[in-house]
Amino acid sequence: MTARTKTLRSGLSLFGVDTHETLMTEREAVNRPSWYERIGADEGVKALADRFYAVMDSEPRYQSLRAIHPANLSRSIERFYAFLSGFLGGPPIYWQKYGHPRLRMRHGSFPIDRPMARQWVSCMQDALDHSHLDESERLELLVRFAEVADFMRNQADPVDEPDRSDP
Ligand code: HEM
Repeated sequence: MTARTKTLRSGLSLFGVDTHETLMTEREAVNRPSWYERIGADEGVKALADRFYAVMDSEPRYQSLRAIHPANLSRSIERFYAFLSGFLGGPPIYWQKYGHPRLRMRHGSFPIDRPMARQWVSCMQDALDHSHLDESERLELLVRFAEVADFMRNQADPVDEPDRSDP
């Protein structure tokens, strides 16, 4: 197993994603079209950004994640779309319009612990479920997002309450 493969596996297991049969050889990876093309170019990227925030806005299980976002999500959607375009290998719209994303710094004012990062990744998983990528592609892309989400953590994890029902 290569170091890269190990990283992918740890990124996945961190977020409770099943790793079986998701990884491909580097030779296969080099010859593929970009994620941007596979997801449906500009239209597909826009749809993913829209869906991500629509899911966050409507599903009660993402309530804590939704609560740290502004009431009006149009700025978040626009900036996320601009970022995703370059991140997925298409035109670097965010970089051209707003400069370097400095994601960790820009997320510094939001409390991001492991449960919050997990909510973000699950929300992305739901959004990707509506895309026309096949299952292994969705999982592979999700790993990349999970790695970035993990990097964004800036708070210790909540301490588990002791189980007082156990004498
Ligand atoms: C780990 C959990 C995460 C949380 C809790 C979180 C939360 C947030 C919040 C609250 C905002 C501000 C929205 C606004 O002001 O409109 C934001 C902005 C943003 N997030 Fe995240 N985020 C997370 C992970 C990620 C990841 C993994 C990515 C990229 C793959 C990402 C990309 C962005 C971008 C591009 C912006 C816009 C930055 C700007 O220009 O202001 N976020 N995020």
